[in-house]
Amino acid sequence: MVAAAGGAASQPGWSSRTAFVLAAVGAAVGLGNVWRFPTLAGENGGGAFVLFYIGCVVLIGLPLILSEILIGRAGRSDAVDSVRNVARESGVSEKWAIFGVFEVVAAFMILGFYSVVAGWVLYYAGVFGADFFGALFSGAPFAGALIGEAPEAIQGRMGDLFGNIPLLIAMHTVFMGITFWVIARGVHDGIEKAALYLMPAFFVLLLVITIYGAFVGEFSQAVAFLFTPDFSKLTAPVMNTALGQALFSMSLGSAALMTYGAYVSKETRLAPTAGMIALADTGVAIIAGLMIFPIVFAVGLDPAAGPTLVFQSLPVAFQQMPAGSLVGLLFFILIFFAALTSSISLLEGPTSWGINARGWSRLKSATVFSIGTYLLGIICLLSLNVWGDVRLLGFWSIFAESNIFDVVDGFTGKVLLPVSALLTAIFVGWRADKKLVENETGLEGGMFALWRFLVCWLAPVGVALILVFGLFPGLLGG
Ligand code: PHE
Repeated sequence: MVAAAGGAASQPGWSSRTAFVLAAVGAAVGLGNVWRFPTLAGENGGGAFVLFYIGCVVLIGLPLILSEILIGRAGRSDAVDSVRNVARESGVSEKWAIFGVFEVVAAFMILGFYSVVAGWVLYYAGVFGADFFGALFSGAPFAGALIGEAPEAIQGRMGDLFGNIPLLIAMHTVFMGITFWVIARGVHDGIEKAALYLMPAFFVLLLVITIYGAFVGEFSQAVAFLFTPDFSKLTAPVMNTALGQALFSMSLGSAALMTYGAYVSKETRLAPTAGMIALADTGVAIIAGLMIFPIVFAVGLDPAAGPTLVFQSLPVAFQQMPAGSLVGLLFFILIFFAALTSSISLLEGPTSWGINARGWSRLKSATVFSIGTYLLGIICLLSLNVWGDVRLLGFWSIFAESNIFDVVDGFTGKVLLPVSALLTAIFVGWRADKKLVENETGLEGGMFALWRFLVCWLAPVGVALILVFGLFPGLLGG
């Protein structure tokens, strides 16, 4: 039952524009916003990083979001076949489909480590859940979290978790299991329903915790930290990091937006939707900063703590704050919701490819790719522990110190996503039929010219720069 080329008839569709927007915003908003963005902004000095990041979103991310969605809608198939269809219609080589392949591979690899991190989120949700209900039954539901546990012990929980392979595997299994279940149910009953419930819940929680932080934390200090630029901190590697983060956060270069685009009706105007995705994604990243840093500053923690900021520092902060265990529980539920709508979009890309290119049923395709990414996740998770010394790409300077987890994360972020983004820009800007592209965007006159300029020039040049400096930091003298 291989779908015919273009597969229009067999392609499922969103039941409304709202469903599409929620699903796409759900794909974009994830661990990248709530965990990685505050981490990176903290490590890289705040203001200048944030400003440069916003520049990347507007000038490179936004035009590329529209590019990916339009390839999907015009190609009406999986990421690989959609590019091929558009290439064929444009009368250019079908070999362009190669970047569709890169995107599917990137999605597969990202999901591998993403699910492991989401597993940590589940663990912490469990810790705070148990703490909150314990406090509730002992009649003090609004006390601080983890009362009686020394701050060192709270911080030590992360190390304990990394030392506990069965627990890491259990959490990863639960998260992948839920992701599989949603995808197996299909576009309408799975992806759409999940987004419809989880995204509004996510936004409510985000608002509640941000307001809480503004009242009990150091809000003005956080605002100053995030918005006062110190341009001496904006070195080339920092710019490189910001651009890479923008691609990851907007789900670019990883099949998600092309695949979701294929389910969009011809009536939907794509440009405003792309704008909403970029706005929501960036807004959430900044609000997440405004949610996390007031709490971090209130208890005098280090904003530059790195990847452990959310998992190690915040739990210590929650201990000292009113209603800390409840807020901690809500905080990790919020991250879980964000991570789930993203992991769903990561699995849908490969699954759709299996359905279209291999002729598999949805159930079979979702099973194959879930098991595949699950096993990759196990390999990543073992590198937090017994395989900690394995250096897969030890010969490559930028990965010389990286364990398997960091290699999978770094290789996708530094190599695969930028390469796909670069090829997307060149393909849509220079190779795809201009009329076809113009019709799909729905943009006219000056707006179309501006968008085209960004896709033809700014995006490829900007992305080429991160690729070069990201892969060969020696060029920067670093
Ligand atoms: N954008 C998601 C996040 O910020 C991650 C993601 C990447 C999702 C690529 C889909 C595709 O967490």
